[in-house]
Amino acid sequence: MSAATAQDPAVERLVRSLSEHEVRGFDVVYVLGSGLGAFAERLQHARAVPYSALDGMPQSRVAGHAGKLVLGELAGRRVLVQQGRVHLYEGWSAREVTRAVRAFCRVGARAIVLTNAAGGLRRDWPAGTLMRIRDHIALQGRAPLARDERGAANVWDEALGLALERGASDADVRLESGVYAALLGPSYETPAEIRWLAEFGADAVGMSTALEAVVARACGARVCGISLVTNQAAGISPTPLAHEEVVAAGAAAAGRFSAVLERALPHLCAAL
Ligand code: HPA
Repeated sequence: MSAATAQDPAVERLVRSLSEHEVRGFDVVYVLGSGLGAFAERLQHARAVPYSALDGMPQSRVAGHAGKLVLGELAGRRVLVQQGRVHLYEGWSAREVTRAVRAFCRVGARAIVLTNAAGGLRRDWPAGTLMRIRDHIALQGRAPLARDERGAANVWDEALGLALERGASDADVRLESGVYAALLGPSYETPAEIRWLAEFGADAVGMSTALEAVVARACGARVCGISLVTNQAAGISPTPLAHEEVVAAGAAAAGRFSAVLERALPHLCAAL
């Protein structure tokens, strides 16, 4: 479906459903990518709402995506965690993969931290590298905005990005910075595609995030994010890639990754 206007009945249903479940009163939303769900366990006074309880919330069938919202507190601040997202390669439309972000903005999200698992294009970045997303290259060939919405040229917020870097420094975790290229998937890239992407300035490659960032920004939220390099991309790594490897690398890095997200929160809130 390609909506002609920003008015979307499914978004309205989801906003109503979020309100009915009292999903409100937070400033920061964390969207957790493949295998990165462990961060939600750090929340205190946590309350989970499964996607199945939310009218209009698309539900993924990909392994590693739990499919629930978790509302809770971290260091005295209320946050919302989206644990699991849907992807274009599953057959969802650009409007559907961005519906949750759109609805979060309607119920009060001021900052959205997008995370993902990604392939790394830099030879000096081993699996397990964390990369702050400084910018993206959207190569999925889908437009998530309606005709009557205006997108921003600068989607990725520098002040929030610096807040992530401060969090990483507080957590004593190294955080690289780079450009995320979003491809449709679901197949991994060929070595030739990876060479081409590297030539054009990409540092990491994945199959999500860019459309959500564009929509969040267009809806007035500020956006930052982190990619976990779960593997070196095709042609950089001598071994073939597998989804299990991506999930396993996510689990191995979960502690470091979650520490950065947690320690960044006060800095994110201070920047709002
Ligand atoms: N390519 C695309 N998406 C990915 C990769 C990759 O190498 N690793 C994790 N997500």
